[in-house]
Amino acid sequence: MTNSTLPGQASDAPVTRDATWWRHGVVYQVYPRSFADANGDGTGDIGGIRSRLPYLHQLGVNAIWVSPWYPSPLNDGGYDVADYRDIDPRFGTLADAEALIAEAHALDIRVLVDIVPNHTSHVHPWFQAALAAEPGSPERDRYLFREGKGADGEEPPTNWTCVFGGPAWRRVPDGQWYLHLFDFTQPDLNWANEEVRAEFDDIFRFWLARGVDGFRIDVSHGMVKDLTFPDVPTIEELLETSKAIDHPHWDRDGVHEINRRWRRVLDESDRDVMMVAEAWVSAESQPLYLRTDEYHQVFNFEFLVTPWDRVAAGAAIDRAVSAAQAVGSAPTWTLSNHDVMRHASRYGLPADINWRTWPLTGPYEALDPELGLRRARAGSLLLMALPGSIYLYQGEELGLPEVWDLPAEVLDDPVWEDSGHTQKGRDGCRVPLPWVTDGPSFGFGDGDAWLPQPKWFGEMSVEAQTGIPGSTIELYRAALAARAEYMSHDESLEWLDLGDAVLAFRRGSGVICIINYGEATVELPAGELIVASTDVTAGLPTDACAWLLPDAACPGADLRWRASS
Ligand code: GLC
Repeated sequence: MTNSTLPGQASDAPVTRDATWWRHGVVYQVYPRSFADANGDGTGDIGGIRSRLPYLHQLGVNAIWVSPWYPSPLNDGGYDVADYRDIDPRFGTLADAEALIAEAHALDIRVLVDIVPNHTSHVHPWFQAALAAEPGSPERDRYLFREGKGADGEEPPTNWTCVFGGPAWRRVPDGQWYLHLFDFTQPDLNWANEEVRAEFDDIFRFWLARGVDGFRIDVSHGMVKDLTFPDVPTIEELLETSKAIDHPHWDRDGVHEINRRWRRVLDESDRDVMMVAEAWVSAESQPLYLRTDEYHQVFNFEFLVTPWDRVAAGAAIDRAVSAAQAVGSAPTWTLSNHDVMRHASRYGLPADINWRTWPLTGPYEALDPELGLRRARAGSLLLMALPGSIYLYQGEELGLPEVWDLPAEVLDDPVWEDSGHTQKGRDGCRVPLPWVTDGPSFGFGDGDAWLPQPKWFGEMSVEAQTGIPGSTIELYRAALAARAEYMSHDESLEWLDLGDAVLAFRRGSGVICIINYGEATVELPAGELIVASTDVTAGLPTDACAWLLPDAACPGADLRWRASS
């Protein structure tokens, strides 16, 4: 492979200038291991992404967000980085990454990379140096090493727990413990250390010089810890106090100073670059991340976890739009990503079932796949009508469900082991994509894929759906084209009153979006139909969504759905 662009020159590629592209962008998440495998080793790669850029262009996306592609032992799918300035050989080379960025730009597709600042991999040279060094050394100070409690320090320094399960501390041979909020192969960095801060400034500059258009920041609410290391209060202690708790490691005030530092680095660029935070924080806290000198955007996970319910969905939309507008940002919308059960399965489970534990515990007969797909199509069409930017996850345009029945022996997600086999983990949404109807790995590569694909994957492939009226891929294509035509650069949303069973709103162009959460088919206003999630010739059926340009004005609403909650 030749290097078609030189470092720093990719910025000259002809991506259209638009300083606010991210406010209304359609961002497609590529999970590189599972997208497309060009070299046939069973693992997706940059060559695969490059070969599918025309597909993404035709789908109508404005940007791709590439999950980590750096050298990594892949203990957590690449969110365990060993070198932030290179590409894992299984994915390709730095030259391949530069070529991808240039080719994407030529198609007017921007590229976001994933930065993982909370922790490194345990094989990162810094952590290896820390293990080799003495307690109290500068090498150890880049991480969070502490003495344990108890007579011989045999108990962990705090009661903090690992997000994937078990304690968040691991002991090293000389007796000290190190902190890992995720798997033990992901030691937490010490963000009070200036060397750590400076290193990440430089990592941002490195990727900006290669032409990237933005960054998705992993666990952006977790970097700052209370260095007095108090225990996290127990539920009983919390019940006894009326004080809001100052959590020792989530969403601490100190993260904002880091956000501002990064924003200054991004603002050095003369291109239209942005950063979006993965921050699982409260609704009150989110706007703080969106101040004009911090993040451009924060993922809105409330919409993702909202059950299929008219009042809940309306309230979640209203809250996100108002919260973003209040701080001059634009909302983000997403229904699936590499960490959650795909929405075509979530929506097929009864609301009282916990979809995180269900793949292990069942009851499996509770899943209604047809209902899930119907609602997923309607929910995706609703999402594509909303003001702000949307983040799509690879394969959702095929209506792919979760592969929830992967056998234990193929599970790769550390959640399976760390949770002591009480959570199956996230592999079910990471199964390599089916591109063609049959053949080896359904066109993902030319041999077996790193995770087994179910037999029925071919029927859902890109090939099987392309050009088929009513297929999910054609629904996405039509909706994204209509979104570009009628909704681009418009940030308004006006609620309409079209009855108690539906949510309905109008966008600035006059296009209205209606989704039916009720049990009966409802009449649609007369007008020009733009796109619908199902056949609407006899009205809008249950669990369906349509966009249309009405012939006459529709009545505005005063958010009555809130009152009925
Ligand atoms: C984020 C990623 C997730 C990863 C975790 C630790 O939540 O999205 O995949 O496991 O951070 O890096």
